[in-house]
Order: sequence, then C-alpha cells, then structure tokens
Amino acid sequence: MGKLDGKIAIVTGAAQGIGNGSAKVLAKHGATVILVDFAESVADAAEEIRKMGLKADSRRVDVSKLEDVQKVVDDIVAQYGKVDILHNNAGVNRRVKFEDMDVKTLNFIFGVNIYGVWNMAKAVYPYMMKAGYGRIINTSSVTGTKVVDEGQTTYSMTKGAVSALTRALAYEAGPHGITVNAVLPGWVRTPKVEQVAADSRPEDPESALRDMASFIPLKRLCNIEEIGDLVAFLASDDAKYITGTEVIIDGGSTL
Ligand code: NAI
Repeated sequence: MGKLDGKIAIVTGAAQGIGNGSAKVLAKHGATVILVDFAESVADAAEEIRKMGLKADSRRVDVSKLEDVQKVVDDIVAQYGKVDILHNNAGVNRRVKFEDMDVKTLNFIFGVNIYGVWNMAKAVYPYMMKAGYGRIINTSSVTGTKVVDEGQTTYSMTKGAVSALTRALAYEAGPHGITVNAVLPGWVRTPKVEQVAADSRPEDPESALRDMASFIPLKRLCNIEEIGDLVAFLASDDAKYITGTEVIIDGGSTL
C-alpha cells in the first residue's frame, strides 16, 4: 500500500528538475501522476516513469496561459475523473541586476511564476471544491524570504507572491477540505542550477557547484527526490492538519 494510492496528481514543470523528481516520488507512493510542461520532452519523462512500472501520463501546456491551462485540466479530469493533488512547480528565473532588468523580462518571469501558479490553482480549484478534498503544494523559494544573491529582485518578488498566495488561499480553501502549502528550496541540483554553475565558471562548473555546497551547513546541494519526499508528505494524510505553511528545505543555508 502506497500512501498516495488512488490519488490523481498533477505536477507542473515536470519534464526536468524538481518537478520531475516530485513526479517520480509521487508515483512511487502510488499516485497516478500527470506530468505537465511546455517542453516536448515531458512525454519521455512520463514514459520513463511508466517503465518503472508506475502510473504516469503527460500534457503539454504553457502554464502562463489561463485558457490553455483550463482546457488541459478539464481534459485530465474528463479522463481520470478527479484531481486530488497539484504540485504547482513550474518556474523560471533570469539573473539580471535591477538597473538592467526590462519590462519584457519582468512580464515573462511574472507570467510563469505568478500567473502560472495562479492559473493552475484556479483551474483545479472548482474540481477540488466539488470533491471536498484537495492538496495544493506550491514551489516557492528561500529567495522569496531572504536575499541570497544579486540579480534576483524580480524572481524574489514572484516567490514572495507565491508564498502570499499560499497563505491567503489556504485560509479560503480550508473549509472546502483543501490544504495549500509551499515548499521553499535552497540550492537544488537541477539543470537550471547546473546552468548557473556553468555560466559562472565555464571552465569548471563542478567546482562552482562545490563552492555553492561549501556555504550550506549540510555541505551538499539538495537532490530533486528530496523535494519530492516533502511534497509527498504534504500531499499525504500524514499532513492532513497542515495548511498555509511554508516549509524551508535548504540544508540550513539560510540560517
Ligand atoms: P528547471 O528549469 O530545471 O525546470 C523547470 C521546468 O519548468 C522545465 O521543465 C521547463 O520546461 C518548465 N517550464 C518553464 N516554464 C514553463 C511554462 N511557462 N509552462 C510549462 N512549463 C514550464 O527548474 P528547477 O530548478 O527544477 O525549478 C523548479 C521550480 O523550483 C521553480 O519554480 C524554481 O523557481 C523553484 N526553485 C528552484 C531552486 C533550485 O535550486 N533549483 C531553488 C528554489 C526554488
């Protein structure tokens, strides 16, 4: 018996990185996971999970487009009958100093990190309300609560917004049997973070990753499955009385 047996879970940004790790862990706990991403490779990511003998499907959509998101969620519910869990995870970042940030980039980051999260929650919410049950887990970031680097003003704003949405929606959703929580990772080893390391030290990205780890009390970056473990906990009955909470998972880096 898995702790998520029979559950239907949507994970956004699941083609790679944190969303991919979360999708695998939720599937291992028995959920049927629908991996959502705009990248074509999301179909392969779902296939990889099926090859593990677990239940997975995929849909391609740009989460910043509400109409498209609504169609995809309606289609998932038409096929699977319900949606129990949403891991609202797709997100983007552009490290640009404030003086160089332009409105186009700002709108792009807001589009995915704020509108995308709102759109997905908005699309699943009526189904969860009707069912009297739901688990929404948003991926925020420690960057939404602390300044950890320069070039992060826009990204920090969006993650602060995700955390605020989590609290405010948890307040409204509670009476409907829906919990809403956020996970706040520090450095997680994902393709995005590997790119940050490669950009900062093209001649030796691994040494840049080691330097990042040296500032973390646990002396290593988080791996994607560890975020998945936390998401699975928040999605499970073990966490049924937890709502509106932000769980930091950063190896102590923001202590
Ligand atoms: P990633 O860049 O490795 O993966 C993000 C995935 O989201 C990709 O598969 C991408 O195709 C998808 N995506 C991007 N825009 C999309 C859109 N408009 N519609 C649908 N899919 C879209 O990123 P990573 O590192 O896995 O990050 C995932 C989440 O975790 C993001 O919200 C990020 O802000 C957050 N985060 C990551 C940390 C890290 O150290 N990696 C730390 C704290 C938060």
